[in-house]
Amino acid sequence: MTPLDYDFLRKILKERSGLDLSADKQYLVESRLVPLARKAGLAGIPELVQKMKGGAEALTTEVVEAMTTNETFFFRDKIPFDHLRDTILPALLQSRANRKSLRIWSAACSTGQEPYSIAMCLKERAAQLAGWRIEIVGTDLSQEVLEKSRAGVYSQFEVQRGLPIQLLVKYFAQIGELWQLNSELRGMVQYRQLNLLQDFSSLGKFDVVFCRNVLIYFDQQTKTNIFERIARVTEPDGMLMLGAAESVVGITNAFRPYPDKRGLYQPNVGGARAPALKVVAAR
Ligand SMILES: C[S@@+](CC[C@H](N)C(=O)[O-])C[C@H]1O[C@@H](n2cnc3c(N)ncnc32)[C@H](O)[C@@H]1O
Repeated sequence: MTPLDYDFLRKILKERSGLDLSADKQYLVESRLVPLARKAGLAGIPELVQKMKGGAEALTTEVVEAMTTNETFFFRDKIPFDHLRDTILPALLQSRANRKSLRIWSAACSTGQEPYSIAMCLKERAAQLAGWRIEIVGTDLSQEVLEKSRAGVYSQFEVQRGLPIQLLVKYFAQIGELWQLNSELRGMVQYRQLNLLQDFSSLGKFDVVFCRNVLIYFDQQTKTNIFERIARVTEPDGMLMLGAAESVVGITNAFRPYPDKRGLYQPNVGGARAPALKVVAAR
């Protein structure tokens, strides 16, 4: 791959998915795109780039999807789901007691483990949520991961990562060497293809947004923009859950950290500045 090929790929990946590749990630691009080029009957990356420059849209989509990182697992990092059970749900059960409805968005849901972990948390609270209208929306850029999400079928390896055995037995059926989530739990999540770089205001307002382990791949300006648009679709008393390596601090004033709950944030209604953010911005 020539430096010009690499620059072209970096530019297109940034435009299409937000992926911000540094100048030294050629090995990553090669490891993911050489197999894709061969599968498409091409000799290598230079030929792939030629096709993309010639307007091969389907191939470009495949390139973008091949470069995304889809790593995920059930109850990833555990703490966010403890926050959901112990902090978020109790607060919302109270504040939404009249409305009796909850909308939760798993933005960048990959192969479904995150929204299904949320669904299991809610199902474990079934008695308190009886009569409530629950909507969980899972979105991702990649159609391929969404297909797997919808099927809700996981390998032995995947169900061994993070999923407590009692939940596996309770909610999954074994099909040969695979495990399928039951239809009730699958029915709790609606999936939609969505690129976070594009307008998502049509999704409506959410009480809780999980946006974990995707913004780490984006540059600061893109993160700020996405946070600000997420704030607009988050209810004023709603909450945002970020990944373990992510934070809003120094990136946006649209959210402020929820006291003493790592990874949990609340919208700053009216764009008011949280004192903690002011201090960081002034440094
Ligand atoms: C590492 S996974 C995170 C999955 C899950 N949220 C978790 O924390 O386990 C990142 C996901 O972000 C998706 N993604 C990457 N760029 C995106 C974009 N611009 N819009 C929407 N999804 C994107 C990828 O397809 C991938 O499935």
